[in-house]
Amino acid sequence: MIIAIDGPAGSGKSTVARMLAKRLGFKYLDTGAMYRALTWKAMQEGVNLKEELALCQLMDQTTIEFRGKDEGLNVLVDGVNVTKKIRLPSVTNNVHFISDTPGVRHRMVKLQRKFASEGNTVAEGRDMGTVVFPDAEKKFFLDAEIEERARRRYGEFKPKDKEVSYADVIKDMEIRDKRDTTRNNSPLMKSSDAIYMNTTKLTIEEVLNLILKEIEFAVKK
Ligand code: DC
Repeated sequence: MIIAIDGPAGSGKSTVARMLAKRLGFKYLDTGAMYRALTWKAMQEGVNLKEELALCQLMDQTTIEFRGKDEGLNVLVDGVNVTKKIRLPSVTNNVHFISDTPGVRHRMVKLQRKFASEGNTVAEGRDMGTVVFPDAEKKFFLDAEIEERARRRYGEFKPKDKEVSYADVIKDMEIRDKRDTTRNNSPLMKSSDAIYMNTTKLTIEEVLNLILKEIEFAVKK
């Protein structure tokens, strides 16, 4: 069984997808982490982020793996643990070069499908319901007002990182939303058969329970 969860940054989809996978005993596929992992490696190796051929070659020479589970889930690039490094602002700011490269996306999709073919999966990203898993048993599109999404993201920064202002976070999010929704390749979009959920006024537990109810309903049908 595949459960596809898509949505913009800060919609709560990562937290919910992780909790859902844990609750159901499914594998959790964080596809954003895969794009981030290749971005990290490309930056590390000084590969031109605008050169499709170089990025595709790099991808062919790179192993991206997930090890562990739940809170202990790690992302490895060629055996190196990059779980923390791929969340650095430098990676976040450059990941769009990688995620907008058709040859890279093509390769990522193959890996993502292979991952899900090996067991029940909660897959999270931007194009899970539309492109990667069009036949997923259940699809969700999580959304929230931008002010709330920025508030959540701002709240995640540790006190020492708070020289970043809330206004900066909103501005950043607007840029990411625009890039995600307007790119040529697999833009962020709700699949017509996905359940839309506005999480602005909901807690994570409320979102999780709504999703669990929908899944229960689907299994009973
Ligand atoms: O979910 P995230 O912020 O970790 O994703 C990082 C970037 O990767 C994000 O800017 C959009 C891109 N992405 C994508 O294009 N397709 C996916 N399936 C997942 C993420």
